[in-house]
Amino acid sequence: MPEQEFSSLLLTQATCGKQSVSVSSGSEIILAQQIAQYCTDNLWVLHFDFIMSENKEPRRKRVGLAVTGGIAAYKAIEVLRGLQRAGCEVRVAMTRHACEFVTPLTFRALSGSYVVVDDYSDDNPDPIAHITFSQTIDLFVVAPATANTLAKFANGVADDFVTSTYLACTAPVLVTPAMNTTMLEHPATQRNLEQLRADGVHIVNPDAGEMACGTIGPGRLSDPEKIVAAALAVLTRTDSKADLTGEHVLITAGATREPIDPVRFLSNRSSGKMGVALATAARDRGAKVTLVAGITSVELPADVRVVNTTTAADMYRAVMENAASATIFIGAAAVADYAPAQLAEQKIKKTNSSIQLELARTPDILGDVAAARRHGQLIVGFAAETENLLKHATEKLRKKGLDAIVANDVSSRESGFDSEKNAVAIVFRDEREIVELPLMSKNEVAHRILNEIVELRRSQKSHQASTN
Ligand code: PMT
Repeated sequence: MPEQEFSSLLLTQATCGKQSVSVSSGSEIILAQQIAQYCTDNLWVLHFDFIMSENKEPRRKRVGLAVTGGIAAYKAIEVLRGLQRAGCEVRVAMTRHACEFVTPLTFRALSGSYVVVDDYSDDNPDPIAHITFSQTIDLFVVAPATANTLAKFANGVADDFVTSTYLACTAPVLVTPAMNTTMLEHPATQRNLEQLRADGVHIVNPDAGEMACGTIGPGRLSDPEKIVAAALAVLTRTDSKADLTGEHVLITAGATREPIDPVRFLSNRSSGKMGVALATAARDRGAKVTLVAGITSVELPADVRVVNTTTAADMYRAVMENAASATIFIGAAAVADYAPAQLAEQKIKKTNSSIQLELARTPDILGDVAAARRHGQLIVGFAAETENLLKHATEKLRKKGLDAIVANDVSSRESGFDSEKNAVAIVFRDEREIVELPLMSKNEVAHRILNEIVELRRSQKSHQASTN
């Protein structure tokens, strides 16, 4: 039995008040006695009800919740409750300053566990609490995360329990910044957030709104419900397959908006749901994801680099800047094929006669990415069609030189633009059979498209191996 699991079993037995420990070897008996003694002495600091190894039920997820010193500290109570409602076991740590806003007693009563503030304090009987705490959790959530804590995390400063735990933690970390707008926008804080992102820390961006100090702007702690949802998503992701690890997936989503004058534009009904579902699914499967978003009406995924754009020309620039480093490109955006040839500087005045609007072609993003294809890059387009679906999609596939195209029948309101579900057929450049997917959620469609992309990558690799 691995030592950690063995210790867990003993901790459970100690927690359950069991004195006898049945183990075979002499050294294990000594270890068992030592751990049982440690657990008996420190029963009240034990963090979680570890599941005994003979119990086949999947164990509940363990979340370490760190509360740092900001006015939003009281909202951490809602985060704790939400995580508990979702079936997680939660143990709380607080910085000293957080205790100025909410007492450890509140969190102790709600979590049922000792709340660690200072691991050197006389009443903390666990001499290596930062290790015990950090290495028995599946996720470390910091809510709220102050500018000071973020700065310490970003620079490896470990001068209290929360920051030492961060450094000792091998589980994923989710931080939820909350601070005054000016502090948030300060280049130092932005640098620290960028560093944390690069270090693989998950970040739930703060909301904009009225702050305790009266300022209106971004910096308010995100909704506890959103924080809980993000935490659960990270936990789920850790469990899911990671067959896109090592890939950089560049995805376009949403509609472009082509201005006619300062108040009018040409656009379409794309909500961005399909592209966002692809970005989320690719992220969950281990890929690094860059999402070039046009106009969307859905929440954009966390832990995905988002580049916001408006016009087809903007989207073209953003895609081209990122295409060289992408290993997979998926064009799910509904990009305008035409834009007004002239942008009127003033609002166009109404007259009694009709007017003519001259339209000019926009750049073909998908076509140009394919034309500049890097070795090994996989390129997948969409074809939104209202008639002759497969014929038109296959023509686009060939003309643009793609690896595959997702033929999307957009003639029904149930699928395609701004719907929750989609029905598509995936057509390939090689002789592979067309994959027809009946109406299903866009999330499911996204995973099915990615399954095919993973297959394309596999056959590309085995082809390369056989020709070398
Ligand atoms: O966003 P939703 O509401 O979830 O809706 C999803 C969707 C219907 C928009 C999506 O599933 C879809 O079909 N996207 C492609 C829409 C489209 O513009 O199709 P198209 O047949 O006109 O374009 C063919 C391909 O070329 C597409 O991959 C498109 O992104 C790309 N294109 C088009 C024009 C252009 N100037 N540049 C491009 O890259």
